[in-house]
Amino acid sequence: MARAQSRYVCQSCASAFLRWEGQCRACGAWNSLVETVVRDEPRTGRVGSGSGTGTGIAAPVALLDLADAAVARLQTGIGEADRVLGGGLVPGSVVLVGGEPGVGKSTLLLQLAAGLVRRALASGAPAGVEPTVLYASGEESTGQVRLRAMRLGLLAGPAAAAVRVVAESEVGRIAELARGERPVALIVDSVQTAVVDELDGPPGSVGQVRESALRLTELAKRDGIAVILVGHVTKDGSIAGPKTLEHLVDAVLSLDGDRAAGLRVLRGTKNRFGSTDEVGVFEMGEEGLIELPDPARAFMGDHVEEAAGSVVAATLEGSRTLLVEVQALVAPGGPVPRRTASGLDPSRLALLIAVLGRRAGIGLASHDVYANLAGGLRVDDPALDLPLAIALASSLRDRPVRSGTVAFGEVGLLGELRSVSGFDRRLREAARLGFTRAVVPQAARSRTERPPEGMEIVGVATLRDALAAALAPGPTVGDARPEPVRAR
Ligand code: TYD
Ligand code: MG
Repeated sequence: MARAQSRYVCQSCASAFLRWEGQCRACGAWNSLVETVVRDEPRTGRVGSGSGTGTGIAAPVALLDLADAAVARLQTGIGEADRVLGGGLVPGSVVLVGGEPGVGKSTLLLQLAAGLVRRALASGAPAGVEPTVLYASGEESTGQVRLRAMRLGLLAGPAAAAVRVVAESEVGRIAELARGERPVALIVDSVQTAVVDELDGPPGSVGQVRESALRLTELAKRDGIAVILVGHVTKDGSIAGPKTLEHLVDAVLSLDGDRAAGLRVLRGTKNRFGSTDEVGVFEMGEEGLIELPDPARAFMGDHVEEAAGSVVAATLEGSRTLLVEVQALVAPGGPVPRRTASGLDPSRLALLIAVLGRRAGIGLASHDVYANLAGGLRVDDPALDLPLAIALASSLRDRPVRSGTVAFGEVGLLGELRSVSGFDRRLREAARLGFTRAVVPQAARSRTERPPEGMEIVGVATLRDALAAALAPGPTVGDARPEPVRAR
C-alpha cells in the first residue's frame, strides 16, 4: 500500500505547505489551506479503469465499443426514494444525503437499508456482492441504532440479520470491513464524523470530510458497492465541507421539512443517473417515515377558507403537482420593518413587496411582513409569485381570498403577469382536489387546451386585476379599493 503523509494544500493556487497557516504564502488567499493526504507512490488501478491490467492505465475505447452502462438498479423498497434517485440506487454509485440535524436522515437510511436487503434477497444481489447492507455509524452507538431499528420494527424480518451495523468512523477500517462483507450498499452516517487516520485534522474539517468522501468514492467505483453518505447541512444550507463533496458524488439528495409539522420532502439537487426535479414526500410517524400516497394536498395545511392572508398555490415539483397553502401576515412595523420568509425565496418576497407598492397600490413599506408555506415545504417555483402577492394583499386589506380559489403565475417588475409551465397539469390537479376557480395569467389561459370540468378560469393581465379577482369583496368597500396611482 502507498505510504501517505499530509500536506496543507491551497485550494486556490494548489501550493502545498507543511504547516497550516491562515493565509497562503504563494497566492495570498485567506483560509484556503486544506490538509490533504499526499501519496509518495502514484495510485494504481485508477478509478473506473477496471482491474487486472497491471499497469493501472486504461486504454481508450472507441465510442461504439464502450460497454453499455445501463445497469440494473437496486430498488430501495421505498417508492418515493427510488423515484428521487431516478429509478433506484445505481450499484457502485455514491449518494450524499443531506439535511439538518434531527430531520430524519438516520431514520430514512435505516429504512432504506432494510428495504434494500429485502429487495436484494427477493430478486438477487448483483454479481460480486452479498444481499447485505453495512451501516457504519460514527454518530451513534450500536445500542442507539438498535433502539431505532426496534422503533422501526426492523428487528424481525430479513433486515434483522442482513443489515449489519458497526460503530466505526475511520474510513480505512470501514472500507476494509466493506471489502470483507461485500454488501450491496455501505451507509456512512455521517461524513462529518468520518476520519482518515493519516490526517491530523478533527472530524468534520474540510480536509477530513473531503478525503473521507474521496476514499469512499474509490471504494464504490472499484468494488461496485453503492455508498450512501449522510451529511449534516449547516444553517446556510450548504452541506459542510464547503460544498466540496457535491462534485465528488454521483447524486445529492436533501431531506427537509418542518420538524414540528411531520412532513418531510426528499429531493434531488444533483443526479448523474436521473432527473433532479423529482420530490418524494413522507410523513414522520411513530414508526419512521411513511410515504404519503396523495402528497398533492399534504401542504395545504389546515387551510381555512375565509381567513385573510392565506391562498392555495398550485406548484410543480418535477412530475408532481403540489397544492401549497401560502400564508402571509402583515402588521404595522417600526422604522426598520421586518421581512421574514420561510419556505420561499426572501429576495422574491422583497421584490413582490416593491411591485405591490408601485404597481398595485398595496403599500407595505412600513409594515412587518411574514410569509411562509404550510408544512415546512421549500419551493422556488416562479408560479408562487402571484399567490404570494395575493396573500400579502389579502392580509393587508384584511379580506380573505374568495372561496374555492387557487392561484399561480409569475409576476414581472411592471406588475404584469407571466405565463408559467405546466398550466394544464396545475389546473387538473387543483380541480381534482375540489377547487372551482383559478386566478391565472391571461397569456396562459388563452393557450390552454380545455379547462377541467367545473373549473372557472379567471385570466388576468396585471397584478391589480389579479387582486380584484382573487379577494372577496370587503365589508368596507371604500377602504378596500387600491390607492389611486397617477396614470401611466
Ligand atoms: P434522526 O433520523 O435521528 O435524524 P437525523 O439523523 O437527521 O439527525 O431522526 C430524528 C427525529 O425523528 C427524532 O426527533 C425522533 C424522530 N423520529 C420519529 O418521530 N419517529 C421514528 O420512528 C423515529 C425513528 C424517529
Ligand atoms: Mg442521524
